[in-house]
Amino acid sequence: MMPKHYFLGFLIRSLLASGTETQAVHGSLKPRKVQFQSRNFHNVLCWQPGSSLTGNGSVYFVQYKMYGERQWKNKTDCWGTTALSCDLTNETLDLYEPYYGRVKTAWAGRYSAWSRTPRFTPWWETKLDPPVVTAIQGNASLLVLLRTPELPYRNQHGKNTSMESYYDLAYRVFITNNSLVKEQKAYEGTQRRVRIEGLTPHSSYCIAAEIYQPMLDRKSPRSERRCVKIP
Ligand SMILES: *[C@@H]1O[C@H](CO)[C@@H](O)[C@H](O)[C@H]1NC(C)=O
Ligand SMILES: *[C@@H]1O[C@H](CO)[C@@H](O)[C@H](O)[C@H]1NC(C)=O
Ligand SMILES: *[C@@H]1O[C@H](CO)[C@@H](O)[C@H](O)[C@H]1NC(C)=O
Ligand SMILES: *[C@@H]1O[C@H](CO)[C@@H](O)[C@H](O)[C@H]1NC(C)=O
Ligand SMILES: *[C@@H]1O[C@H](CO)[C@@H](O)[C@H](O)[C@H]1NC(C)=O
Ligand SMILES: *[C@@H]1O[C@H](CO)[C@@H](O)[C@H](O)[C@H]1NC(C)=O
Repeated sequence: MMPKHYFLGFLIRSLLASGTETQAVHGSLKPRKVQFQSRNFHNVLCWQPGSSLTGNGSVYFVQYKMYGERQWKNKTDCWGTTALSCDLTNETLDLYEPYYGRVKTAWAGRYSAWSRTPRFTPWWETKLDPPVVTAIQGNASLLVLLRTPELPYRNQHGKNTSMESYYDLAYRVFITNNSLVKEQKAYEGTQRRVRIEGLTPHSSYCIAAEIYQPMLDRKSPRSERRCVKIP
């Protein structure tokens, strides 16, 4: 029989050796930049391949859970996916709850360790798209209609909800009469139907708008411009 101390030494050495070896493999296969990208409460998990993955043939496995839950759940649609993203909108429907997602890679018969997102709370983190702008010409005036981005389908409580159910929103409307002249703010407020008056007949005006979230001090990107000629 081996002397006891000799055997222990051997065991520890082999544990250390296998430990560093698997770590080297896992470290480089492990998906990078695993994070939620959220627009209008559409929550998509995104990642990049591990640093050692140069060729093709890697597949990814996705799990998620709500903060405080013990068990990770498989996202079946993204189990063995070759894509670098996975739509978890339906798995993260409670806007005020924090969630986690995680991803691992399999490549050439080897598995990486899991790579996890930071804590993700849809209400805090989702980014709003710009409003959709319609401009209707009037008599030396313009009527501007603004539509907020739509929420993803959800049958929670069967309610017909809008962004305004979740945030206090302000709208900012900008106008310019000529591309050489700097645009001006024509309106800021909570109305989604705005009349701009005192415009010069026979001139063209362009309108753009954005949404502002006062509580988060955050604004959407600018909408596309809508240009209208005043009769
Ligand atoms: C990777 O995939 C691309 C297209 O899908 C293919 O053109 C290329 O040859 C593949 N590379 C390897 C190393 O298999
Ligand atoms: C996730 O999928 C794997 C592989 O199919 C399975 O072994 C495991 O039990 C599943 N986990 C859960 C929580 O369903
Ligand atoms: C989310 O659920 C709805 C309703 O069940 C379904 O129509 C939709 O395809 C699902 N979306 C995803 C990304 O799974
Ligand atoms: C347009 O404005 C002019 C001048 O203010 C006024 O005379 C005219 O009746 C208006 N037309 C309409 C259709 O409102
Ligand atoms: C939700 O409300 C809008 C405007 O009030 C309406 O146009 C739409 O049809 C409603 N949708 C449902 C599913 O009730
Ligand atoms: C455009 O607007 C600016 C500032 O409001 C004004 O000074 C200028 O005369 C306008 N130009 C035309 C062509 O209406």
